[in-house]
Amino acid sequence: MCGIVGYTGDESAAPIILEGLSKLEYRGYDSAGMAVFNDKIQKIEIVKEKGRLQGLIEKTNAGNAMMGCCGIGHTRWATHGIPSQKNAHPHFSDDKMVVAVHNGIIENFHELKEYLQNKGYEFYSETDTETVTKLIDYYYKKTEHNPLESLSKALIRVRGSYALGIMFSDRPGVIYAARKDSPLIVGKNDGGKFIASDVPAILSRTRNVYYIDNMEMVELSGEEIKFYNIDGEEITKEQVTINWDAQSAEKGGYEHFMMKEIHEQPKVVKDTLQAFLKDGQIDLKDVGLNEEMMKSLKKLYIIACGSAYHVGVTAKYVIEDLTDVMVEVDLASEFRYRDPKIPEDSLVVIISQSGETADSLAALRMVKEKEINTLGIVNVVGSSIAREADYTMYTIAGPEIAVATTKAYSAQLICIYLLAIYMGRVKGSLEEKVCQDMLQEMMTLPDKIEKILTDKDRIQWFANKFASAKDMFFIGRGLDYAICLEGSLKMKEISYVHSEAYAAGELKHGTISLIEDGTLVVGLMTQTSLGEKTLSNMVEVKSRGAYLMGVTEYGNYNIENTVNFVVYVPKTDAHFTSSLAIIPLQLLGYYISVARGVDVDKPRNLAKSVTVE
Ligand code: G6P
Repeated sequence: MCGIVGYTGDESAAPIILEGLSKLEYRGYDSAGMAVFNDKIQKIEIVKEKGRLQGLIEKTNAGNAMMGCCGIGHTRWATHGIPSQKNAHPHFSDDKMVVAVHNGIIENFHELKEYLQNKGYEFYSETDTETVTKLIDYYYKKTEHNPLESLSKALIRVRGSYALGIMFSDRPGVIYAARKDSPLIVGKNDGGKFIASDVPAILSRTRNVYYIDNMEMVELSGEEIKFYNIDGEEITKEQVTINWDAQSAEKGGYEHFMMKEIHEQPKVVKDTLQAFLKDGQIDLKDVGLNEEMMKSLKKLYIIACGSAYHVGVTAKYVIEDLTDVMVEVDLASEFRYRDPKIPEDSLVVIISQSGETADSLAALRMVKEKEINTLGIVNVVGSSIAREADYTMYTIAGPEIAVATTKAYSAQLICIYLLAIYMGRVKGSLEEKVCQDMLQEMMTLPDKIEKILTDKDRIQWFANKFASAKDMFFIGRGLDYAICLEGSLKMKEISYVHSEAYAAGELKHGTISLIEDGTLVVGLMTQTSLGEKTLSNMVEVKSRGAYLMGVTEYGNYNIENTVNFVVYVPKTDAHFTSSLAIIPLQLLGYYISVARGVDVDKPRNLAKSVTVE
């Protein structure tokens, strides 16, 4: 995780770096630091602070206290060593000849550290980054100050992942960067050049970016950007234009990004749907998927982490119901370490908002080695998964800033429905008329989501009543169970309330013993045939003291005879209910988080882009 930003150009670097870092805090926020080359004293000055970026902003007077037009900065999510000023980046060699910021994990840092200690290096922090910084320093001195050669020599010895921003004190105005398995982009505008972990960091300044690939290096100076492979040979790279507008990475009047992003869901659903429709038909030509391949498809694997995995669980129910294709859903962190026997006529779908999640990326690479077709459902354009998958379906969610995903999850669901309907039609399990009706129904989802959002005050009222809850349970069957998984994750990650999702039928096998007087149990009942069974399970927990909240479709009013508080969502095709029923659960998590005074957008210990395994 961690976010890095660098700038070299005509303007003062520190304020630009701070602005960029503020857009990357979702990647980590336990400490921050900056290094700027001060032309007057011809030295690199470093300032670091423990805690949120605000501390560094105050310490540097919003960057104005750091003079110079070339610098690098970092916001940290601790992996090696506790969050502290000492462990914060940038790290530096003993004489401050080499200064670096890093995102990733150097797996063999113990070994490298020992090697350097034997050469006389001393270490002041517990980080792996200090080791790689000193390794570069070692080679910089050995190669008589050749930056590219020293980087190349050092990085070839490194095992693990890195996006590095590096400055050498005898090379004013120049930033070097390198990447392996952690994201890194380079941007440029008329006045300067940038490096960053992600697009929002530089979006207000440029839309012209280059994506750095694994084992590549970059040299940015006031005049030019040069790209090299790890052997130091110059290479060319294509410039990409980012379409996201800078405003979508701002809060736009909402108190938190999460609330803004919840409200963006009708638009995101509509945009994602429209991106794959042509003349009223699903068109996946741009994705590259063709009907021939789909016809022979026997098995689908869906691999993802976190909320994207929950989309996968929904996908299993939807796709198996609409097609004759078997679907397996796996957590990427599990899948990558077992030896799955994937038959030839399979497609492996990797779902990821960031396109950089370490486990999902590793799973993708493992599958590619087996020469099985892969499809990425990804939000971030040009991210690793998007580039490495054989086919890519982009969710049109725009930048998502809140750590807890909402709109990207909703956009991923749309891709899954489209894929299911497309497969059903191509493979003959769905008649044309049925497909058309389903697409028509999908087009009504944005308005239906909007309608649920108009009722948010009622959910806020209810959330305030349960703000001090200790435990919560979310129960449902079938697709309702998939919604529970996501609703429960939203609750625990942003409100710190212990929460579990259970297939309603499983409650009796142990969990029911946890029900006490007043425990909140949220029952999802959008599936006509299964809703009644879930309701029976709710009666069972009610008689053991539980307080019941239900989520069901308009019309099921008799539920009020049993359930204490009911939220109704508009009726839709049973396959699409996740898109509607998740909205009240996102709102519930949000409002409980606010009521408990948690930092909704940046909950403790988490990061949005999990680039370490
Ligand atoms: C983190 C985020 C989640 C996300 C998961 C997978 O845990 O907080 O919101 O679902 O990573 O991320 P991805 O970018 O692969 O969708």
